[in-house]
Amino acid sequence: MNLEKLIILAIILAILTLGESDPEIVVINQGGSQYNVTNLSDFNNNLNATFAQLRDELNAGKYFATAEQPRGSDSAYSMVQCRKYLSSGDCIACFTAAESLIRKFSPANGARVVYLGCSLSIPNRIGARQGRAGLSFPFLVPITGMTGNPRPCFAGKG
Ligand SMILES: *[C@@H]1O[C@H](CO)[C@@H](O)[C@H](O)[C@H]1NC(C)=O
Ligand SMILES: *[C@@H]1O[C@H](CO)[C@@H](O)[C@H](O)[C@H]1NC(C)=O
Ligand SMILES: *[C@@H]1O[C@H](CO)[C@@H](O)[C@H](O)[C@H]1NC(C)=O
Repeated sequence: MNLEKLIILAIILAILTLGESDPEIVVINQGGSQYNVTNLSDFNNNLNATFAQLRDELNAGKYFATAEQPRGSDSAYSMVQCRKYLSSGDCIACFTAAESLIRKFSPANGARVVYLGCSLSIPNRIGARQGRAGLSFPFLVPITGMTGNPRPCFAGKG
C-alpha cells in the first residue's frame, strides 16, 4: 500500500471515530473504602469473575448489570451502569476504562468510579452491614440479621 492510500485511510478512520464514538470517559467521582479485604488473592479472583460477568451482560446489550462471586473468604460484588444515550460499544469502552481505574483502590474492600458515561462500583457489604458511610448500595445490604438489632455490629471486633 502506498503512502497516499495510507493517509486517506487514516483520515477516514479519524472521521469515523470522531463521528461515532464517545464513551464519555471523564471522571466525575471516585473513591475507595478505608477497609481492606482479608485475602487479596481470593478477592481479586472473585472480583475478576464479577467483571467478566458484567462484561458478558454489556456484550449482550445491557446497560445495567450486577454480579456476585462468593468463593473463598472474600466475596466480591460489582455493579455497572451506562447512560442510555451511549452506544453499546461506548458503554463497553467506558466499562473497560472504569475496570482499569477501579483497581487502583486495591486492597480496599469497596470502591466506585463514576464517569460521565458510566459508573462501576464494588459495593462494600461489610460497610453496609455496619452502617458506615460510603460505598454501600441499598439493594445489596443483607436484610437478615438487621431486624431487631438497631446497633451496628462491628465484625471481627467482638
Ligand atoms: C489497607 O492497605 C493499605 C495498603 O496496603 C494500607 O496502607 C492501609 O493502611 C490498610 N488499611 C487498613 C485499615 O488496614
Ligand atoms: C488466601 O486464600 C487462599 C485460598 O483461597 C489460601 O491458599 C491463601 O493462603 C490465603 N492467603 C492468605 C494471605 O491468607
Ligand atoms: C485479575 O485481572 C487483572 C487484570 O486483567 C490481572 O492483572 C490480575 O492478575 C487478575 N487477578 C487474578 C487473581 O486473577
